[in-house]
Amino acid sequence: MKRITIAIDGYSSCGKSTMAKDLAREIGYVYVDSGAMYRTVALYALDNGIIKDGKIDEARLQEEMKNIEISFQFNPERGRPDTYLNGKRVEDRIRTLEVSNHVSPVAALGFVREEMVRQQQRMGQEGGIIMDGRDIGTTVFPHAELKIFVTASAEIRAQRRYDELTAKGEACDMKEILRNVEERDYIDTHRDISPLRQADDALVLDNSHLTIEEQKQWLLDAYKRATAG
Ligand code: CDP
Repeated sequence: MKRITIAIDGYSSCGKSTMAKDLAREIGYVYVDSGAMYRTVALYALDNGIIKDGKIDEARLQEEMKNIEISFQFNPERGRPDTYLNGKRVEDRIRTLEVSNHVSPVAALGFVREEMVRQQQRMGQEGGIIMDGRDIGTTVFPHAELKIFVTASAEIRAQRRYDELTAKGEACDMKEILRNVEERDYIDTHRDISPLRQADDALVLDNSHLTIEEQKQWLLDAYKRATAG
């Protein structure tokens, strides 16, 4: 069967990565979390004093982009790839609220997007890939055979992120998470370069009231329809 390209875009914390990684495992595709790549650039900037008091030193970040090597390694225990920065596993560090609070302004920078999109397109050259993010169906893979746009109310998304962080033992405040979710939505949809928007040919999934199992089935059906015939 033809190995297609599947692009999943949507708002922050709407469960894209859970459904994408489950489908990838089921159909034997590669799963790439493009948000992890932007998070890794933000982590590098925070670790190296390139972001100070919330301000990004853009000239320095641009100069240092060549020192940021991002890779993924499948972790069988988690059933999904872990993210590495210059050979070091950073999977947990990129998911903290601190990184969430700084990632969207970093992801709005043209030189950052150019480099990430170039690497993402290279990963997808052979097809057989599921990538999730904000601009996958519009910019990275505009010719993807299957495009999904996922949405859910901001309150439900914040609650899911709260549960996820609490389960990992990170102390967090529901109000701060909701603020972060809404702020990232705003920056992601209003930036000049590749803003988050639904591709004209995307299928829309509002998963506000779906269980993980139900959305998994929805996606599998969409995949079957896209590859039938
Ligand atoms: O997991 P969550 O939905 O919270 O976000 P993510 O997918 O990890 O992405 C983190 C941030 O990276 C987003 O809020 C965007 O600002 C940025 N991003 C982007 O600009 N383009 C992408 N293709 C993926 C993420």
